[in-house]
Amino acid sequence: MLEQGKIYIGTSRKPDDTINKPEYLDLRYANRHGLITGATGTGKTVTLQILAESFSNAGVPVFCADIKGDLSGIAAMGEFKDFLDKRAKEIGFTDYDFQEFPVIFWDLYGEKGHRIRTTLTEMGPLLLSRLINATDAQEGVLNIAFKIADEGGLPLLDLKDLQALLNYMGENAQEFSNKFGFISKASVGSIQRELLILEQQGATKFFSEPALKISDLMRTTNDGRGAISVLAADKLMMNPRLYSTFLLWLMSELFEELPEVGDPEKPKLVFFFDEAHLLFKDAPKVLIERVEQVVRLIRSKGVGVYFVTQNPMDIPQTVLAQLGNRIQHALRAYTPMEQKAVRTAADTFRQNPDFDCAEVITTLGTGEALVSTIEAKGAPSIVERTLIRPPSSRLGPLTEGERKQVMDVSPVRGLYDEDFDRESAFEILTRKAEEAAKQQAQEEEKKATRQPGTIGGWTLPGFGTEDKPTTTQRQQKRSGYQRETVVEAAMKSAARSAATALGAAIVRGILGSLTRRR
Ligand SMILES: Nc1ncnc2c1ncn2[C@@H]1O[C@H](COP(=O)(O)OP(=O)(O)OP(=O)(O)O)[C@@H](O)[C@H]1O
Ligand SMILES: [Mg+2]
Repeated sequence: MLEQGKIYIGTSRKPDDTINKPEYLDLRYANRHGLITGATGTGKTVTLQILAESFSNAGVPVFCADIKGDLSGIAAMGEFKDFLDKRAKEIGFTDYDFQEFPVIFWDLYGEKGHRIRTTLTEMGPLLLSRLINATDAQEGVLNIAFKIADEGGLPLLDLKDLQALLNYMGENAQEFSNKFGFISKASVGSIQRELLILEQQGATKFFSEPALKISDLMRTTNDGRGAISVLAADKLMMNPRLYSTFLLWLMSELFEELPEVGDPEKPKLVFFFDEAHLLFKDAPKVLIERVEQVVRLIRSKGVGVYFVTQNPMDIPQTVLAQLGNRIQHALRAYTPMEQKAVRTAADTFRQNPDFDCAEVITTLGTGEALVSTIEAKGAPSIVERTLIRPPSSRLGPLTEGERKQVMDVSPVRGLYDEDFDRESAFEILTRKAEEAAKQQAQEEEKKATRQPGTIGGWTLPGFGTEDKPTTTQRQQKRSGYQRETVVEAAMKSAARSAATALGAAIVRGILGSLTRRR
């Protein structure tokens, strides 16, 4: 059953239920992306588990999210169970054995895995707008904020950096509006409130440093197996927008960081996007277009993206069209809506003359699916009714102790545990504000002690110096000039520190995240 260069998914059945043939996912076409769908409890997570196992064995690193905690068992050796044994025999899987896999646990909150973080600068305005569900006006302000930060080199690392910059923008709204376009103080205020909510939801932990290095997701073991990065997402799922924005950022990061490789023998990384409907729910059109673009282009970087969701209709048509490898578990069809969904799911397959797809979808058993994968010449295989193979690792969660053991021997142990708070927008702007306050205090002092030509609100004649500007004019000019200097000085000095901090000019990619031009 196990073949070089292919992943064994399971065994298909003939109309009379006897064994037909093994069904494979060809590693050469694994970067043509995929889709795993099915109603709840039909076997999606187990399918994800066996795919992740096989990719790892083939030396392909995997990233996946563990929504319910039931995927963590992939780090432990499987145990004999009657129903697993029965399934293996049923499908003629004589090579079936138990195995544990090299897992790296990650967690945005740092509780069930190593901390995984990024900075606001790296995430960029488009995804941040999505994260706080920004209105158009708010998005406009965020774009300007990032522009000020990028051009002026004010590193926006954490939420307090952005808060500080927004304060600063609010205070100098007029100057910044002249330079960058209208900044409404109301929008600034509402973004600040949204950021506070994010903070309360624990996002402070996520937006900080050290930021995740993509190479840490692409590790292989000394015996040539790909690391399986498992993101603990049970708590994260309480904030679905943070969950989906985070995965989107990660995908875009992979896209921006990895070099072109064309069509490799096997993928460089496989990325499972579980609960993928969250990604597209109420998403603005422009975001969907950008996602479609990243999914299309990321293929040539050797990354395979597999969406996992209940129903193919959860995924926009343009994205769906890019997903070549399909595993469709059972769907229910009681309501007209459900019947329509079944029809749509059935219609996406290359039909098999032996059965009616739509009919079969509603009668598939647990751990059974309609399978069609990309074959030679890039065409989809004829759809087959397939019993999915049982997993080699444990079905079900790890205990807390077991998880800790895995984390203790992790290759990234200690790399991400401590927060690191270097000088960024918050510190720079605070210092600038202090300097400006000091300067102003000095000015006031000067004014108080030496006020040539003025007594209270009166003006004395100039005695031959009438062509000089009056004192009020002069003061206006000076204060205008002075404020301008604060804005510009902040940007210039920040540019210097950021240039050294980020090491390069800032260029933003398709999804607005940072690209580093080396
Ligand atoms: N390939 C398989 N071999 C053996 N048993 C399986 C297989 N697939 C699924 N099962 C059984 O079905 C149960 C439910 O499967 P699974 O957790 O994958 O469903 P799901 O579609 O992810 O559900 P949910 O939407 O609720 O997350 C498993 O715990 C297991 O007992
Ligand atoms: Mg599941």
